[in-house]
Amino acid sequence: MVKNRGSFSRIGFILAAAGSAVGLGNLWKFPYITWHNNGGAFVLIYLISVVVIGWPIMIAEILIGRNAQNSPVPAFEKLGGKKWSFVGWLGVITGLVILGYYSVIAGWTITSFTSCLKWSISGYIIQPEDSFKHFMGNGSLQLLLSFIFIAITAVIIWKGVNKGIERTTRILMPVLFLIIIYLVIMVLFLPARVETFRFLFRPNFADLPSTGILEAVGHAFFTLSLGMGAMITYGSYMDRHESIQRNAAMVVFLDTFIALCACIIMYTIIFSAPSIKESVSGSTIGMLFITLPNLLYTQIPFGAAVAPAFYLLVGFAALSSTISLLEVIVSLLIDKLNFNRHKATLIGAMAAYVVSIFSALSLGAVSGFSDFSIFGPGKEGVLSTLDHLAANWMLPVGGFFITIFVGWFLDKKISEAELGLFKTNGISKIIYTIFRFLIKYLAPLAILAVIIAVILGKDFS
Ligand code: PHE
Repeated sequence: MVKNRGSFSRIGFILAAAGSAVGLGNLWKFPYITWHNNGGAFVLIYLISVVVIGWPIMIAEILIGRNAQNSPVPAFEKLGGKKWSFVGWLGVITGLVILGYYSVIAGWTITSFTSCLKWSISGYIIQPEDSFKHFMGNGSLQLLLSFIFIAITAVIIWKGVNKGIERTTRILMPVLFLIIIYLVIMVLFLPARVETFRFLFRPNFADLPSTGILEAVGHAFFTLSLGMGAMITYGSYMDRHESIQRNAAMVVFLDTFIALCACIIMYTIIFSAPSIKESVSGSTIGMLFITLPNLLYTQIPFGAAVAPAFYLLVGFAALSSTISLLEVIVSLLIDKLNFNRHKATLIGAMAAYVVSIFSALSLGAVSGFSDFSIFGPGKEGVLSTLDHLAANWMLPVGGFFITIFVGWFLDKKISEAELGLFKTNGISKIIYTIFRFLIKYLAPLAILAVIIAVILGKDFS
């Protein structure tokens, strides 16, 4: 696949890229970090980041990949010389870190699916409050689940992405979309929707914790799969005739829309039942896995029918993201170390699993791992630490260098040609000027400002 480029069909890129972007970031992470950061102001900063940082960097990554026809490390070498290859390497390491905890959470979709199947058949029993804690603390189960998830990812990568993933995402993503819309419509009948909208869309900056700005910017990178080369890799498989800027805008829109829907669904149910609100605050990390099943079985018409399907699809959404993560690592091993695809897949997956062992055991099973802390209260444990490190530091730093590369170093003619500046169907002059301004000045300055503020001890983290 790496030697034989341009292999996505015309619609294939958008499916794969949206598949990479839409995942646990939208359904699991965004609802819980937005909750922690008290809604409104956080959401606003996140939305601004998505537009002024996310969209231009998405374009930049895709154009690097499509022009170089290579995976990130050789792509940077080809377009910028050896001195730029570090950006590609940083991305690969980031991918390994993310895969090393993402697979643990992704593994939870397996048990949610099987539990829902059981409940749908033999009736739902309200779960005792600490059941999720027990589940997280069950080390061997956590190890097994993340193993299964990485193994499934590896099987698909082993076969090559196109036949497996392009075909499956074509059916699954639209179904996921429909179920989410159905759930949104259902919760909109509940009176608590008013409180939800107030919480999400009425910014009050006094409520924003000092860590919030960094988290909002970091999450924009995470949820759009930016800053580590996933979009460079996928861009290299993109059809020449596809519009980069339009595809990028579409992915950004879909991703943001689904994230907001996930919040609307979960918060409305939380606000509807004060008792849930209390238990949720204790374990917001489990919102998707505790609050939602409860909602599905007790408040939503046909919830029992929807629930197992929903968790199956969440699992698939996570899978299309882990595939893009592993693909970055594997394509590097193929291009740089001349491994064949099978050997590269085995080594890449094993490396990811080693990292995931530490994450899997850090949810209560091994106290040394669970108490491990670099970023202070609320972020204890290997899993949270890796999440914070990758999303809030490694991705923004990687993204920063990508803006500098495309904005300042890459020959302008390459961007113009890839975006079709002077072509009839290409980018309009005005959009191109906006893109240049964002990628050259605003995006790098915004990222830099946040990073410097953190380093100078603004206590953003
Ligand atoms: N964007 C994915 C999500 O929201 C996670 C991801 C990050 C995937 C970085 C690839 C690269 O779940």
